[in-house]
Amino acid sequence: MDKFKIKINGNEVEVSPGKTVLQVLNELGIHVPVLCHFEHLSPQGSCRLCVVEDRGVLKTACTTPVEPNMDIQTDTPNVVNSRKLVLQLLFSERNHYCMYCEVTGECELQDLGYEFGLDHFEFPTYERKFPVDNSHDYILMDHNRCVLCRRCVRACSEVAGHYVLGEMERGIDTMIIADMDVPLGKSSCVSCGLCAQVCPTGAILDKRSAYLGREVQSDIIYANCDQCSVGCGIEIYKKKGANFIVKIYGDWNSDVSQGVLCKNGRYLALYDEKERVSGIRLRDDFGFRRISREILKEILKNKLSDDVVAYVDGSLLNEELELVKEIFKDKVYSLYPNNSPIESNISIKDLDNMDAYLVIGVDLNKEFGTIGSFVKRNVIGNKKKLVLVDEKENSLNKIADHTYNRKDLDLAISSLKNENNVAVIFKDLKDEEAKILKANDNFKFLWLPKETNTVGLNKLNIPHEEKHAKNVFVFAKNLDGLNNMNLNNTFLVIFTPYNHEVLNKANLVVGISNGFEKEGTFYNLEGKKLVRQKVLRSNYDVVDLREILLDISGKVEKIM
Ligand code: SF4
Ligand code: SF4
Ligand code: SF4
Ligand code: FES
Repeated sequence: MDKFKIKINGNEVEVSPGKTVLQVLNELGIHVPVLCHFEHLSPQGSCRLCVVEDRGVLKTACTTPVEPNMDIQTDTPNVVNSRKLVLQLLFSERNHYCMYCEVTGECELQDLGYEFGLDHFEFPTYERKFPVDNSHDYILMDHNRCVLCRRCVRACSEVAGHYVLGEMERGIDTMIIADMDVPLGKSSCVSCGLCAQVCPTGAILDKRSAYLGREVQSDIIYANCDQCSVGCGIEIYKKKGANFIVKIYGDWNSDVSQGVLCKNGRYLALYDEKERVSGIRLRDDFGFRRISREILKEILKNKLSDDVVAYVDGSLLNEELELVKEIFKDKVYSLYPNNSPIESNISIKDLDNMDAYLVIGVDLNKEFGTIGSFVKRNVIGNKKKLVLVDEKENSLNKIADHTYNRKDLDLAISSLKNENNVAVIFKDLKDEEAKILKANDNFKFLWLPKETNTVGLNKLNIPHEEKHAKNVFVFAKNLDGLNNMNLNNTFLVIFTPYNHEVLNKANLVVGISNGFEKEGTFYNLEGKKLVRQKVLRSNYDVVDLREILLDISGKVEKIM
């Protein structure tokens, strides 16, 4: 259908078919109050705050498509009174005494109250007490503040793909529930936190962020999560003038994750409780003693002119890896396997366009939550096929069409032979598994590297091998790979943010900055170069690895 004309507040406007009245009004800059509507969710039409008048009939702008001959009025007395009545009813239905609410000052319902000049409760307020669900580790659900907009229900299902939230009963008895009405903390919730991000009121709160500050009191920094190789887009709310993060939201405009986050990215990044390494410590006959940066540089200068080898892991940013390469040349090795017999040939976004999914040896809910969301919303929401290959307990088992052991990979493959486009999602593959998978023309591949910047390691051709030298330098967050290495008769230097038992074998230990304390870039599993911003000052006595590497590389140049 071609474009056609409609009237808006008496003016003729040309519109495209398929748009809603709300979209057209927004494009024209005409403000329409909304509550249940949320840009990234399907329209719902339940609150009726967005009503407009079309030839004498009130219609919800968010759900009504434009059609020829419309004559839309956005601010007639009928429209304004209807919106105000709806708002007064919402304020009377549950407990909206704003001064006792954590989100007062940044609540969409409260904002509407001010917009419509509500200065008293028009109707008796409903005094029934609704439950407060405090059973979840990260989220508090206060049904007294709920306006039944169902944004949380839609976000949990159609975007996050977890289908935990729903509703029961009708009218004023309607309740948002988890699973079959169990406490949220005992439900199938995976703590992605998207429901809290979209809730317009104080009905769903992030416990960790509560009372830390308002959005207007925060600087918003756009960056990418570095908790895994997906690299989801994040909005970091850092309290202005303070050294802490109030909350992390998923960035709806992220080309990688489109607003989705997992528990690690939203909550665990804020709850880093692992023991940090502080200071620069040199071991002598009496144990470790602290030394200065100057002494550190002298020691490094001497060691680097001797027999050396360096190990890194995928927690290092590109700039750090490049400097390690510059200093140690071809004597740099990855502590962990960093290659796959099959490279990815689809992006994360492409997952929405696949017909079926073959997930091998990975529990997506637990390890790569955002990939799990993309798969689950297609499997549960769009009834696409899911075949799991995993002998371990896997939480996607419940929604899989078939589950096979790894030794029966051929059976899993033949169960998908009639599907046109199958996304094969895997973490590790044996060569023989890769060979039989590659023989299927309908298969596309998405490799999930274990470490954040594995792709960066590969771009610099850093191999995974065990090499020995008189002096071993380690730059890594995960030191488990050193446990079984023969480190006898070596001078072991470890740069790391976290404490680990292997540090007892080290001769020199340097605490380095981590996470939001450093900046640079990394490549995610799709090979996109993503940005890591420095947001916080470290509360520990640590050195910036990039700074110290720059220093060392300068020394090396002088020596050479
Ligand atoms: S945290 Fe995520 S999974 Fe849990 S209820 Fe909210 S949206 Fe659903
Ligand atoms: S909990 Fe929040 S998002 Fe969910 S229906 Fe209630 S007000 Fe809306
Ligand atoms: S999936 Fe990975 S990148 Fe995305 S939020 Fe979770 S940990 Fe961060
Ligand atoms: S915003 Fe349109 S009905 Fe709620």
